[in-house]
Amino acid sequence: MSVAAILVAAGSGSRLASTRPKAFVDLAGEPLVVHAARRLMAGGVVDTLVAVVPADWVEQAQRLLPRAHVVVGGASRVDSVAAGLAALPAEVDVVLVHDAARALAPPTLVLAVVQAVCEGNPAVVPGLAVTDTIKQVDASGAVVHTLDRASLRAVQTPQGFDRATLQRAHAQPPTGAHTDDAGLVEALGTRVLVVPGDPLALKITTPADLAHAERLLQ
Ligand code: C5P
Repeated sequence: MSVAAILVAAGSGSRLASTRPKAFVDLAGEPLVVHAARRLMAGGVVDTLVAVVPADWVEQAQRLLPRAHVVVGGASRVDSVAAGLAALPAEVDVVLVHDAARALAPPTLVLAVVQAVCEGNPAVVPGLAVTDTIKQVDASGAVVHTLDRASLRAVQTPQGFDRATLQRAHAQPPTGAHTDDAGLVEALGTRVLVVPGDPLALKITTPADLAHAERLLQ
């Protein structure tokens, strides 16, 4: 099996209140995208790394990630993943898609996802049980429905796919905003397996998340 990882790092990250795109903001002295790439590659199962970055950051990304193929992202996350898919070498069978914003996702999580895909699951996502009670609300803020917490999972990345499945999912006509790739695979009617996630794979979105990640590293 040849495994590739598409590391999406082309978002603006406006909620982090930085002048740089989020993936290039420093965490303990190194950009988030460098942390994320190091942990993706550390387990030794990823053969190819494709980093998807904003157009103005290609040279900087190539300097930071000399082993990666660096490509330019798109307006949405789905567009950025599609740009990464288009850059994959022919021999790749398994594709991981990972958010640079989940910079501390550990190598053990990467291995667990790859292993589940290699065991024959076409789509695998890490997920954590939800501890808050989650309610659906309408436009006025009134509660419509309380969801059954026991059946909910907060889904993370890296998400793993058999390459043909992910390419079929991305070839579908767009149907609204998709915040992950598993959502596109679900639209095909293909089974998506959830494996245990890891609190370290938190998405760094706000300055408080960045401070929390710094503490986790200390
Ligand atoms: O915006 P959000 O936090 O959901 O982004 C998740 C990941 O997708 C981030 O790593 C971000 O850099 C990436 N992204 C991208 N291209 C976009 C939007 C987001 O690569 N157009």
